[in-house]
Amino acid sequence: MIEITDPRIDAYLMNLTQQDDSLLLEMEKKAKAADFPIVERLVGRLLYLLTRLKQPQLVVEMGSGFGYSSYWFARALSLRGKIVLIDREAQHIAHARKVFSDADLFDRAEFRVGDALQIAREYQGIDLLFMDLDKHQYLDAITAVTPLLAKNALVIADNTLWHGNVAEVVQDRDTEAIDRFNRHMFTSKDFFTSIVPLRDGVLLAYKLTET
Ligand SMILES: C[S@@+](CC[C@H](N)C(=O)[O-])C[C@H]1O[C@@H](n2cnc3c(N)ncnc32)[C@H](O)[C@@H]1O
Repeated sequence: MIEITDPRIDAYLMNLTQQDDSLLLEMEKKAKAADFPIVERLVGRLLYLLTRLKQPQLVVEMGSGFGYSSYWFARALSLRGKIVLIDREAQHIAHARKVFSDADLFDRAEFRVGDALQIAREYQGIDLLFMDLDKHQYLDAITAVTPLLAKNALVIADNTLWHGNVAEVVQDRDTEAIDRFNRHMFTSKDFFTSIVPLRDGVLLAYKLTET
């Protein structure tokens, strides 16, 4: 396994990002206790920043878990913005509902339980798509959702360096799937793409074409 960022750099960055939001801290604690993969704080901050810059009206999140990444998006939305949280696990969505209610963010969100590939198809003109579902589904997911993206949409996909495995001769289903997805995003005429080597690799793509 390759270290994507030197642990000293990670520690330095974490040290810069002191957090006093009790809901975020609680979710970080819950994820750690349950060994549940959230985007974590450094990527959360990047999501927040990109959302503030983009000012999307419609954010669709494929793989919301219990709402940690969604919370970063929702807090950055303008009053006209809305986020659709999708997860196939009802208990995760129930927890996210509670977090959003406690944070007074309920009005900015729609909560959906089920297969993200099916549910996302119900939305047109998506301004910001966040992908954090099962890794072997990334290519199918972006293929299904590309026609639904607004021109100038932003696509953000987590774990696109997959513990560094994409740069090694590792052959397993998830590594191969992420590599196929990355190659698609970098060669497709529909997108201009880059990957930020933060945490596990955050792919950012700008939608160039009309839907
Ligand atoms: C890595 S976790 C999401 C973490 C979340 N984005 C965060 O950072 O707080 C992945 C989630 O995607 C969900 N998931 C995976 N494939 C899915 C699919 N096809 N449709 C809906 N949910 C899916 C899983 O149930 C799991 O909760």
